[in-house]
Amino acid sequence: MPLFKKNEASINICMPSAEILPGYVDTSVLRKHFPRQFEDCCRSLSLNKNEPDLSNELQLDLKVQNLLRKWQEAKSTPFQICYTKGILQNCHKIGEGLYGEVFLHKNGSGGTSVAKIIPFEGSQIVNGEKQKKFEDILSEAIIATQLSNLRYNKNNNTDLFIEVQNLRYVHGCYPEELMELWKLYEETRGSENDFPGIFTDEQQYIILETSYGGCDLESFLFDDASQAISMFIQVSCAIAVAEAELLFEHRDLHWGNILLTRVPKQEEIIFILNGQEIRVKSCGVKATIIDFTFSRITVNQLNICNDLGKDRDIFNGSGDYQFEIYRLMQKKNGNEWFHFDPYSNILWLSYVLDKTLSSVRYTNSCTKLHKKSMAKLRELNLDILAYDSTREFVLYLFDNNKIL
Ligand SMILES: Nc1ncnc2c1ncn2[C@@H]1O[C@H](COP(=O)(O)OP(=O)(O)OP(=O)(O)O)[C@@H](O)[C@H]1O
Ligand SMILES: [Mg+2]
Repeated sequence: MPLFKKNEASINICMPSAEILPGYVDTSVLRKHFPRQFEDCCRSLSLNKNEPDLSNELQLDLKVQNLLRKWQEAKSTPFQICYTKGILQNCHKIGEGLYGEVFLHKNGSGGTSVAKIIPFEGSQIVNGEKQKKFEDILSEAIIATQLSNLRYNKNNNTDLFIEVQNLRYVHGCYPEELMELWKLYEETRGSENDFPGIFTDEQQYIILETSYGGCDLESFLFDDASQAISMFIQVSCAIAVAEAELLFEHRDLHWGNILLTRVPKQEEIIFILNGQEIRVKSCGVKATIIDFTFSRITVNQLNICNDLGKDRDIFNGSGDYQFEIYRLMQKKNGNEWFHFDPYSNILWLSYVLDKTLSSVRYTNSCTKLHKKSMAKLRELNLDILAYDSTREFVLYLFDNNKIL
């Protein structure tokens, strides 16, 4: 059986035998270091964990392998060495989440990078939560890289998932410069997070470096609702592609996790779904999907996700349809988070539609085009929950000429 390796980022690789090829990680790594996850995987695959089926070797992106290797060898880099004063001079904080502080900076090659800094395995409580374990972040890192690599894939292709540039393993106190930028953000925009001055020089972090994806849906100002339709269809197509290739569920697609940039109005966003090309008119916006902390995929028959059932807090929120979605997902999958249930994506799409109808902001809300587009969004909102998967929904749109 041939071994294909199209390029470093490709995920379409056939593994010929049980031998462990240099640069690849097999399930024994998972078994040794993450026995709980390994058992969960075996359980969900009905495998005997003493005789792992070697055809199930995990074939991971090189960035993930390097991260795993560094972590296994306990070789983290001091924060200050990774992020030199020169880099930090051209930096500012652009966002925050429960799990990470997010900074934009110039990278070594002159381009821009976004760094999501995630502290882990320390005893310090951060933002009211216990710090994550390495394996929790590993799942996000694997999922982010696999989705990012869909931009190189042939049969199912999209570049809507944020591009992963690097994964870093660092330690130390927060650099002074970042703390100053953190304070500036708090003064100008307000922060719900704890001041990162709390971290000691033993604190470990994983830094997920990605490209810049734009402004999040919550803060974005659309010209009119035709742009919101384009955003919605783009996001649907990307999820359909990832469902088809990776049995993907996002599981946390709230409006902080969809980013938007402005592009020329005539630009088309191109997807390939099961070999079929789909072109979507941008109407002047391009969407990007981020944040795979809660997501799930299957790679080479291994299910990769975090078991959300273990975190009760997720299901106790109130005050926004977002919190209802977590409960609806749980009800639908019976609190079994390893299996693929694409209806969760449909639930999140209904949430996104709801936001476009009730909360996002439009500059030109009096035009005919806006009103017509709002009516279309309402129509979509009436139908969306009747589909079982995003793939089914997108194929329906495509077959009925309803893609923009
Ligand atoms: N690549 C990016 N480009 C632009 N902005 C980004 C990028 N990544 C993150 N952000 C900004 O930072 C915010 C937090 O990032 P992210 O959602 O990844 O963190 P999180 O801690 O997992 O969040 P959550 O609270 O949703 O779990 C995003 O809502 C967005 O505003
Ligand atoms: Mg987020």
